[in-house]
Amino acid sequence: MTQDELKKAVARAALAYLVDGEIVGVGTGSTANCFIDELARIQHRIRGAVASSEASRQRLEGHGIPVFDLDKVDAIPVYVDGADEINAALQMIKGGGGALTREKIVAAVATKFVCIADGSKLVAVLGQFPLPVEVIPMALGHVRRQLAAIGGTPTLREGFVTDNGNLIVDVKGLAIVDATALEARINQIVGVVSNGLFAQRPADVCLLATANGVQTLTAN
Ligand code: A5P
Repeated sequence: MTQDELKKAVARAALAYLVDGEIVGVGTGSTANCFIDELARIQHRIRGAVASSEASRQRLEGHGIPVFDLDKVDAIPVYVDGADEINAALQMIKGGGGALTREKIVAAVATKFVCIADGSKLVAVLGQFPLPVEVIPMALGHVRRQLAAIGGTPTLREGFVTDNGNLIVDVKGLAIVDATALEARINQIVGVVSNGLFAQRPADVCLLATANGVQTLTAN
């Protein structure tokens, strides 16, 4: 199976988690795009979607799926999104596409977070993938120095501006032993909007596509 076929397989499997007649939260990235395309086939079953990025909003609207602003919605039973890395506790690194802050907001509102990923995303220890951090532009120098002080090597993502008008710094070399503590520590740096560790709010379920089919992981 190609990577593309694996992504389509988990995207299809995620449809089983939808709550009929309700709003679904939709993530960002190539796996989430496969999910949006699957949603298009069953859109009569849902009321609409909340998007975690402008790119996902456009793709949803392109399929004729109603997209609601988050503040017009009281509840999101299920949020479906990909990940850059996920561990056995279903903690993740996200933000490879730069949408981490909106993803984190929608995930915070959602009752259930269903992560869809191909098998290559499952890791024993988070941190091989550089950790994305969204930064208010005027704080860039300060945030870079603070990230270096905690042991990381930060690199500005050149030519990239988030949907919120901010910058992304990708941080290599962090020893992510306690992901929850590191998530909180980086968030405390003044000028950081959010970081790509999803540890305080991990996924509830991970649908992992492998050559042997879709595996369902729950936190252990
Ligand atoms: C977007 O900002 C990210 O959090 C994505 O969820 C993550 O990068 C996974 O993307 P792919 O599905 O394209 O690998």
